Amino acid sequence: MARGYFISFEGMDGSGKSTQIRRLKQHLEGRGYDVVLTREPGGTEIGEKIRTIILDKDHSQMTDLTEAMLYAASRAQHVAEVIKPAIDRGQVVICDRFVDSSIAYQGYGRGLGDSVQKINDYAIGDYLPDVTFLMKVKPTVSTDRIKHREKDRIELEPESFHEAVYRGYEELEHRFPERITAIDATRTIEETEREILKRIDRLIDRNGTNNSR
Ligand code: TYD
Repeated sequence: MARGYFISFEGMDGSGKSTQIRRLKQHLEGRGYDVVLTREPGGTEIGEKIRTIILDKDHSQMTDLTEAMLYAASRAQHVAEVIKPAIDRGQVVICDRFVDSSIAYQGYGRGLGDSVQKINDYAIGDYLPDVTFLMKVKPTVSTDRIKHREKDRIELEPESFHEAVYRGYEELEHRFPERITAIDATRTIEETEREILKRIDRLIDRNGTNNSR
């Protein structure tokens, strides 16, 4: 059976992840893959309930540690129920955010540091994406792109929080250059797409395609 792949997308809110995820799905289906689209926090019935709790604007009393643990809990359920079984079946999983979001938002944004990695090691072990696309747009630009949207609890954080998240992502990009591909997401949708598809095709071709389903 063909080998499954695990691909994640990361970046600030408003970095254009969803558009590129849709396009990548189409491309992979064109290459004969069965693609599962999913997201975090969420992706399972339990995870979606956790998502509602985390993002609720009325939950201003939530501690940073509780927040980090809820994201990790949603992730543990997601890996066990959706991601791992799909990859084992030979499907391609495209996940809108994964563990890097927690390192960037809770580790850097909230300032929880290394404890976030520890919580997540416990939640997912060493289960990591084959490729992670980091959609890079400066925080001022991404904040401007979402200014007309209704904001959730995280999006309502001040600019300094989003700048710390951005620095966290840059740190991750340097720490994991093999896995994380930074994409300049300030260009046109088509230019950005071309770069993403090139990276994916390289990965698939390197592993051998013969995906005859
Ligand atoms: P997302 O679904 O990307 O937001 P939207 O529905 O607006 O596209 O993610 C929700 C928020 O959760 C986002 O601001 C980033 C944040 N987040 C974390 O802080 N830590 C995490 O581990 C994850 C997965 C998301």
